[in-house]
Amino acid sequence: MTSPTLPTASAPDTARLLLGVLLPTIVKGPIIRRPWAVGLAARLDLDTRAVGIVRSIHAKHPAGPLMLKLPIRRQAIVLAPEDANTVLARSPEPFTPASSEKRAALSHFQPANVLITRGPLRTVRRALQEQVLDTDHPVHHLADRFVPVVEEEMLELLAGAVRSGSLPWDDFLDAWYRVVRRVVFGDHARDDKDLTAMVIRLRKDGNWAFLKPVRTKTRRRFLARITEELANAEPGSLAAVMAAAPKGDGAEPADQVPQWLFAFDPAGMATFRALTVLATHPEAMAAARREVDGDTSGRRVLPYLRAAILESLRLWPTTPMILRQTTQPVQWERGLMPADCGVLVYAPYFHRDERSLRSAHSFSPERWLTEEDDGWPLVPFSDGPVVCPGKQLVLLVTSAALAALVAGHDFRVEEGQALDPERPLPGTMDNYSVRLGVSGRS
Ligand code: HEM
Repeated sequence: MTSPTLPTASAPDTARLLLGVLLPTIVKGPIIRRPWAVGLAARLDLDTRAVGIVRSIHAKHPAGPLMLKLPIRRQAIVLAPEDANTVLARSPEPFTPASSEKRAALSHFQPANVLITRGPLRTVRRALQEQVLDTDHPVHHLADRFVPVVEEEMLELLAGAVRSGSLPWDDFLDAWYRVVRRVVFGDHARDDKDLTAMVIRLRKDGNWAFLKPVRTKTRRRFLARITEELANAEPGSLAAVMAAAPKGDGAEPADQVPQWLFAFDPAGMATFRALTVLATHPEAMAAARREVDGDTSGRRVLPYLRAAILESLRLWPTTPMILRQTTQPVQWERGLMPADCGVLVYAPYFHRDERSLRSAHSFSPERWLTEEDDGWPLVPFSDGPVVCPGKQLVLLVTSAALAALVAGHDFRVEEGQALDPERPLPGTMDNYSVRLGVSGRS
């Protein structure tokens, strides 16, 4: 007996998903954000609307993934929380993260990266990433080197902000990129803005995925530059750990590095957003400072500040669309999902579900310190075997940055969105338009 295929959304519902959910995310820039599009999304509240669209379609199809009605492409969306968990738990087989559009986008700058690799080579590349990033350890073995780098750069940033009286996003980003270059390549790369510019250029191409030809010469130059960095790696950098790590056949170390440079961007965004929320939420700021003032771990273990970053990423996930593709037909209770079918887990739908989460639209880091949401797909770093292998490193670096920022300074929002603890937080947070006022801690 042949299994029925999964239910399919109507043509109007498919159009609503394409125009109201996928399009805004794509226009905002999946690989590097376009600040004007983020601003527009914030003004039109597009992310809240997108969640509303998914919710109304889920109400019509409560059980099982839903196929979209598309002429050429097989594409499904996952609507039930348990199905989202299943897809992530059963990755990379039969749900590979190396989906066609992700391969097209990331090939612009890291064609052999683990995230777009299938089959046995993925195992080799994933093992290398996990080893270098210390995936299973909350405190990276180079924390003694990374934490002071973060503190130094944040204190320099603050000194400039106090002099000028304010801290706009662009200044924060400059300092953040210095942190990233020092962590990834070492102190010699601190001011190598050309390197960052090269990644940014290739990432901008990545936003266009299939629609833009790969700049093979620039990509070759970029990867050659990384190979050179790995060959002369500075002790105390991630590059040095990578250079010394045992590697299986086909590991392609140089192709694993761009993901670090690229993915530290959302970490900076999450930090600045969390700082902006703390500036407007006195109770959360007080809790953050209690932790920082009483810290005896040298800023390596800051559970509340780590939770504040996770909460910033829950409210405003930097990877809102987790994409998978089936490597073979997959049987669900409601029917068969064909092979080569794109599968979308739209994280904001789960992250902002006030029917299931306490304070879904408020800043509540405490949720990450208890088991209250266990089993619910709060997945800013994805989950399962493909979970972001840099998660712990990100939490270490970002919480250390927040600690350095709030320990001795007060912040107030001078420009940007109103974030009121008494009101639901907006669906989109436009970090680009934020300017914080800075003064010594009162
Ligand atoms: C706030 C910052 C970050 C967030 C929210 C984040 C989130 C994610 C997510 C959601 C995925 C899975 C994508 C998918 O399933 O399709 C992923 C994969 C990955 N991330 Fe991160 N990431 C961050 C920063 C980093 C950093 C800084 C590094 C490295 C230093 C890193 C390394 C990786 C790698 C290597 C993968 C591919 C894993 C695989 O394919 O098995 N990430 N990240």
